[in-house]
Amino acid sequence: MCSVVGYIGKSLSRAFVFEGLSRLEYRGYDSAGFECLETESNQLACVKASGQLSNLVQRIAHNPIDGFVGIGHTRWSTHGDFSEKNAHPHFDCTKAISVVHNGVIENYHQLREHLVSAGHVFESSTDSEVITHLFEYLLLETADFKSAVCSLVQKLEGMFSFVIMMKQFPDLLLVARKRSPLCVGYGEGEMFVASDVLAFSEQTNKMFFLPDESVAYVYKDAVQLYDFFGKSLPIVTQPFSATKTCVDKGTYEHFMLKEIDEQRTVIENTVYALSQLGLLLWEQLGISAVDSQKLQKIVLIGCGTSWHAARIAQFFFETACKIPVEIILASECQQTSFFPDKKALYVFISQSGETADTLEVLRLITSYDLRTVALTNVATSTIVRQAQGFLVTQAGAEIAVASTKAFSTQLTALYWLANRLALCINGNQSTPMMQVENDLMHAAYLLELNVSTYRQRIVADVAVRYASYDKAIFLGKESSYPFAMESALKLKEIAYVFAQAYPVGELKHGPLALVDSSVPVYIFSHSDPFVYKKLLSNAQAVYSRGGKIIAFVYEGQDELCSIAETFFVIVGTISPLLGPLVMTGLMQFLMYSIAKSRNCPIDKPRNLAKSVTVE
Ligand code: AGP
Repeated sequence: MCSVVGYIGKSLSRAFVFEGLSRLEYRGYDSAGFECLETESNQLACVKASGQLSNLVQRIAHNPIDGFVGIGHTRWSTHGDFSEKNAHPHFDCTKAISVVHNGVIENYHQLREHLVSAGHVFESSTDSEVITHLFEYLLLETADFKSAVCSLVQKLEGMFSFVIMMKQFPDLLLVARKRSPLCVGYGEGEMFVASDVLAFSEQTNKMFFLPDESVAYVYKDAVQLYDFFGKSLPIVTQPFSATKTCVDKGTYEHFMLKEIDEQRTVIENTVYALSQLGLLLWEQLGISAVDSQKLQKIVLIGCGTSWHAARIAQFFFETACKIPVEIILASECQQTSFFPDKKALYVFISQSGETADTLEVLRLITSYDLRTVALTNVATSTIVRQAQGFLVTQAGAEIAVASTKAFSTQLTALYWLANRLALCINGNQSTPMMQVENDLMHAAYLLELNVSTYRQRIVADVAVRYASYDKAIFLGKESSYPFAMESALKLKEIAYVFAQAYPVGELKHGPLALVDSSVPVYIFSHSDPFVYKKLLSNAQAVYSRGGKIIAFVYEGQDELCSIAETFFVIVGTISPLLGPLVMTGLMQFLMYSIAKSRNCPIDKPRNLAKSVTVE
């Protein structure tokens, strides 16, 4: 998932393009490139660099090209290594056509072979470069610009959003979208193009999202929109707003730490926003209160951290709604194994709302005309436009690749929704909504309190003590097992530690063989006495094999503390269901601090990106 940015208009393009790229760099930072139609020479001029955008900024300082039309790109490599030759933009043989692309051209190999046999010379090992060479080929073959464009987008298979700039047409940016997101922002005598509105949220508040499978001819003062067969399409612009503060880390060293510390506020904002919905809730969810009474199953769908949130929320819905809950890992969902259920509510969980795997499952489920709701943190995202209903968490922009506040606000919204639906499904409600909202506010307070209680100790001692280990085991039981999975994911993502989570009961069926004094074993307890008892006996098996236990425990769980090398007693009392939410900040802060002690590039971990817009 790369970021593409384009500008055409009355001003020089470089400043905007670089600002846009810096705001979208969380999408990919393997290499970057900028190109413009130079004002003086009226030639296409380009500067590229491997690595983060800051490398390109240094390069451009020595070669300050600029022009009234420009395109830029930051890359997350799918095809070809991180090298400069694979950085975008890519060109045709005559260097008169250039492209920046996000997505995957699945049939690039066949197309490339055909073009090479037709005499084209490729300079990179990317799939993207096939776009410019194919366009060059079709322009020569058809000589009619519009039909060459239609033929180009029809021949490309897979997912793509791209911006093409041509020397021959200096007043035009040709942009196209199939699956991967792309939007256009309207200015006075200027137009902005980007993978995400965040890129131009400071420049304008009027924009439109390219509909799927469409092409736009973007001029500095007009846009023409067509489908892939050249049929004209109406442009539906919409106002939007995004405040500056959301992409600024202030005095924090890392966005991740800032976002960990924002959790109490954003959980409270999420509860407040949900509590204010009132009857609007049903309209927004796209299901009436009466119809929700007939629901017989809840299906929660997501990837990565959102999938972990789904697995923890399974306990919320089962306990409150007393109906079956199914969890679908979107990246593993196959058409073959899907059994549509008209009496189910399908809830899609996605921070970015752009995760390709999750959107593909949404397309599958929509094709069966089933009930779909999106829970996302980005109101302007594709998933909101494609699901029947939606709920938005109020985490604010989450910039660090490792999800933190989005996770806790997802748990918050799912706990609230489970209890809100319970009222309809069960006709009565074990916990009045006022109580539910108070419990969530209390959980937010305890989350923050536990981080501040142990912050000093973690920085001064615990993080350093466990930073040198390159492997770790994470254990939990019932809802603390998916919480252990989320914790392991954090340590993998930001500290590059080989971390594996297991349900504690599974240990003796194999993983216990991994335990010795060289492996830290993180254990997340549970405040339910029955679950705790089961968890404790397995923890003792770890202890007796010399495992180094780091335990997150609840008040009075002294036996687990007594066998732990390090333990954190969760301060405050909360219902067992909200235990993971209260532990969240403390867990994230410990994983963050270990990564910091290992000098890892926390906000932009290698090989990853914030939203995964390719399957
Ligand atoms: C989490 O830290 C990761 N960034 C990743 O696992 C993420 O949760 C996953 O890609 C899903 O993203 P989404 O919530 O935006 O759909």
